[in-house]
Amino acid sequence: EKGGYEHFMLKEIHEQPRAYRDTMLGRIDHANHQAVLPELKLSAEQIKNIRNIQIVACGTAYNAGLIGRTVIEQFARIPVENDVASEYRYRSPIITPETLVIVVSQSGETADTLAALREAQANGAHVLAITNVVGSSIARDADDVLVTLAGPEIAVASTKAYTSQLIAFYLFGLYLAQVRGTMTKEEVAHVLAAMEALPEQVEAMLGQADTIKSYAEQIAKHKHLFFIGRGQDYAVVQEGSLKLKEISYIHSEAYAAGELKHGTLALIEDGVPVISLITQEAVMEKTLSNIKEVKARGAEVLAISYEEHAAELLKSVDHVIVIPKTLPVLTAALSVVTLQLLAYYASLALGHDVDKPRNLAKSVTVE
Ligand code: F6R
Repeated sequence: EKGGYEHFMLKEIHEQPRAYRDTMLGRIDHANHQAVLPELKLSAEQIKNIRNIQIVACGTAYNAGLIGRTVIEQFARIPVENDVASEYRYRSPIITPETLVIVVSQSGETADTLAALREAQANGAHVLAITNVVGSSIARDADDVLVTLAGPEIAVASTKAYTSQLIAFYLFGLYLAQVRGTMTKEEVAHVLAAMEALPEQVEAMLGQADTIKSYAEQIAKHKHLFFIGRGQDYAVVQEGSLKLKEISYIHSEAYAAGELKHGTLALIEDGVPVISLITQEAVMEKTLSNIKEVKARGAEVLAISYEEHAAELLKSVDHVIVIPKTLPVLTAALSVVTLQLLAYYASLALGHDVDKPRNLAKSVTVE
C-alpha cells in the first residue's frame, strides 16, 4: 500500500512525476502545439465573453488557485480574484453571467467549496470544477469538470493533488489564451514544451532530497520561522508555510518579501530562520534587498533558487538549495516540491505522525 515508502506523504510526493504526466495525457496536441480540453462544455463564444474569473477553494486548493490566478492573468489577460470558500458567500461577490467561477477541490466534497459553487450557479455564473474525484458532489454539481489525475491521496497533507491542480491551471490557461488569441502559437508551443519537461525535472529533484533533509533537521529546532517571496514565489511559500505548520507544528508565516518592513521585521531576531524563494528573475534584485534587511537583523537565511544564481546569492545568505530551471510561470510546479520535502523531513525529525496530523481530517464536510 505504501509501496515501500515510510509514509503515504512521501509516496505521494514521489508520485508527482506520474501525476503530472497523467494530468497532461491526451490534453496536448503535439502536431498543432495546442492544449486540448474536449471534455469542456464551455463554448468558444462563452470563453470570449468572460469578463472576470473567481477562483474559490480552501486550504491547499486555495493556494493552488493563487498560482492559477497568475497563470490565467498572464496567459489570457482576464482579471482573476481568489476567494477562500468559507468567505465567498458572505461578501456578496459580484457575479454576472460573464463570470467564470472555478472551484478547486481534491476531494470534491469540501462543504464550503460546494456551497460556494451553488452560490455562484444561483447567480448565473458558469462553474468549472478542478477536482481529483470524478464522482464527487462538486464534480456532479459543476457545469464543467477538469479532472486532475493525481490518483487517490491518502496523507492528510496534500501534495500531488496541489501540483496536479497546477498542471490543470496551465492547460486551462493556455486553452483560454488560444480561444481569446492572447498568445501566439509559438508562445503556446514554448510553454507546452516546458510543461512536458517538468516530470523529469521533479524526478531529478527527488533524487537530491538529502540536502533538504539536513536543512529540515536544523529548522526542526525552531519554534517560529518565516517564508518570503515575490510574485509566484509568494504564492508558493504560502503553500510551503501551510504544509510545514500542518505536519511539523512549527509556526511559520509566509510574507510577500516587500511587506516585511511594514511590521513583520519586528519579529526578526538572531537566528530566526527565513526561507526565501527567489526564482522570479524580474524581481530578484528587489527580493535580494529584502533578504539583506532580515540578514542585518540576525536572521539565518536559506535561499531557494536556480543553480545559476547560487554563487551570487551565497554572498548574502547562509544556505542555498537549487531547483531545476523552468519558465517563470511554471516555477511553482518545481519549487513547491522542495517545500513539501522540507515539511515532511521536519515532521519526521520531530517524531510526529506525518500522515495523520493532530486535529485535521482529510475531507472537511462541515462548514
Ligand atoms: C492541506 C490540505 C487542506 C485541503 C483543504 C481542501 O494539506 O489538504 O488544506 O487542501 O481542506 O480540501 P479539498 O481540496 O478536498 O477541497
